[in-house]
Amino acid sequence: MIIEVENVSFRYAHSPEPSLRGISMAVRKGEFVGIVGPSGSGKSTFCLTLNGIIPHSIKGEFRGNVYVDGLNTREHSVATLSTRVGLVLQNPDAQLFNMTVEDEVAFALENLGIEREEMERRIRWTLKLVGLWAKRHEFPPNLSGGEKQRLAIASVLVMKPKVLVLDEPTAQLDPLGRKEVLSLIALLNREEKITVILVEHNTEYLLEYADRIIVFDNGRILMEGKPEEVFENVEVLENIGVRIPARIKISYELKRMGLTDKIIFDRERIVEVLRWAYQRRKS
Ligand SMILES: Nc1ncnc2c1ncn2[C@@H]1O[C@H](COP(=O)(O)OP(=O)(O)OP(=O)(O)O)[C@@H](O)[C@H]1O
Ligand SMILES: [Mg+2]
Repeated sequence: MIIEVENVSFRYAHSPEPSLRGISMAVRKGEFVGIVGPSGSGKSTFCLTLNGIIPHSIKGEFRGNVYVDGLNTREHSVATLSTRVGLVLQNPDAQLFNMTVEDEVAFALENLGIEREEMERRIRWTLKLVGLWAKRHEFPPNLSGGEKQRLAIASVLVMKPKVLVLDEPTAQLDPLGRKEVLSLIALLNREEKITVILVEHNTEYLLEYADRIIVFDNGRILMEGKPEEVFENVEVLENIGVRIPARIKISYELKRMGLTDKIIFDRERIVEVLRWAYQRRKS
């Protein structure tokens, strides 16, 4: 297991209630885990425990243990943990500080004591991977939203982390930028075998790409399983405000109308059932 979380609870200093309440989970190397859940359910807080920002940089009461690639986050600095787990946040502007795209990526490597040649090799590899090599001399604020977020991803990728944790990386992007970033994440998982933990409201995308979905509610894990298994719980998820993928929602309605006896996931099959129902109505 590349990540192991053992009974983790966290209460922010000055907050009366804990934001995480006994979270236990583990992530396999190469796995793609999607996290969903209503606002305030602890998704972002959980992400911050995965590279040690909690408990090292954010004050509060932390219980349990998080192991990243075998390292207990309590015993290692955020800088050390960052070479294992790259964290990407919602707002790309808040993560970019340098004058050029290239400097932005180089900046992350500066304190790692890597030789110049290796640094250059890694910067080239990373910028090509995220599709920003041609824009390496540009001023980051001039990039589009999708490009900025791809640059933020590049600046953690350049440290060659085994795990990428992304907390709603597309929330502030337009549809095109969102698509760019989501395809990049799928590529990193499939081609580069990077373990991905992604907080994302686009459940259609998660249904397509995630190996497993974890549903957070009120600081706890409410449900966990394969996307098809989890999204089948349409009523429970809608009650807490999790969006159901359109395909599953349609199939759920078909089942309610008595047109199928179970929820179907296959697009072709849904079309067949709809056609059949339509023909039956006509005749
Ligand atoms: N810095 C903080 N200090 C005190 N309480 C906080 C802090 N950050 C978050 N919280 C509280 O912790 C709980 C979980 O918040 P968190 O941001 O982790 O939820 P979330 O699932 O990421 O929500 P969203 O979908 O809105 O991003 C909430 O009740 C929130 O108010
Ligand atoms: Mg959040």
